[in-house]
Amino acid sequence: MHICRSIEDCRAAVADLRNRGKSIGFVPTMGALHDGHLSLVRLAQTNATSCVASIFVNPTQFGNASDLDLYPRDEDRDLSLLDEAGVEIVFLPEADVIYPPGDETIVETTRLANMLHGKVRPGHFRGVTSVVNRLFNIVQPDVAVFGEKDYQQLMVIRQMVRDLHMPVRIVGGPTMREADGLAMSSRNQRLSPADRLAAVVLSRSLDAAAARAGDPGVSVDDIRDVIANTIATEPRARLRGLDTVAADTLDYLHGPINEPLAIMISVQFSDILLIDQRVIQP
Ligand code: PAJ
Repeated sequence: MHICRSIEDCRAAVADLRNRGKSIGFVPTMGALHDGHLSLVRLAQTNATSCVASIFVNPTQFGNASDLDLYPRDEDRDLSLLDEAGVEIVFLPEADVIYPPGDETIVETTRLANMLHGKVRPGHFRGVTSVVNRLFNIVQPDVAVFGEKDYQQLMVIRQMVRDLHMPVRIVGGPTMREADGLAMSSRNQRLSPADRLAAVVLSRSLDAAAARAGDPGVSVDDIRDVIANTIATEPRARLRGLDTVAADTLDYLHGPINEPLAIMISVQFSDILLIDQRVIQP
């Protein structure tokens, strides 16, 4: 596995793969890898003949410096996991490689970035599109893979690629979960043992909503009640966001469910915010 820290080195390694007739599947990450990330590597490998991953804790998508500082980092472990998974190239830049002095260009999906989670975390999705655009320009992949768990992020990336005519195909990967149903996340390791046990309430509420959606005549408000009531059964959990939106536009839905409904929830345990989502078919 080739480990690159400079843009020149990364471009040369990618060119070498291309010269050997390989197509490039790309998995951008911020490290602290878990099986969710590795499932995206496998998806990249089925959609392309080689896989490039990046590890970059992107400062422009963090709202405050302490969240950035607290982000878990374990480079050696990450590299051995990617090597075992058969990744050909890992790009591991420092911040001033991605954003050299004088950098001033931003990329923003003006509507999608500023709704839903984007309202709670102003500037977050602008940071995501600004870095993913730079990473795409460096790696120039044929296919790039993103998790459905970060549903709004996936939609924002698709929109950017469409609007800016970027020659890359975006593939969404299903959410990998722990045995009890909690969506895998690098943040889970920061939960106290009691909060970790309590955090199963996110997936439990989505399961309850999916079950309720099968009932005749059920409305979006009924689904919202099921989520809110289930989260309320867990005293350690604070429901911070509950969005029930059209799965393709993220516009709010009301009344009977007659198109795919994305349920996006964020729930706080102590100072850790966890997110999860489910798309329900009509
Ligand atoms: P990060 O949080 O490291 O996630 C990297 C990718 O893994 C994202 O596409 C995310 O949706 C996906 N992912 C996270 N948890 C998952 C799970 N349980 N199952 C499947 N996929 C999962 O998302 C980012 O980094 C950054 O915003 C990034 C896109 C790299 C830009 O900085």
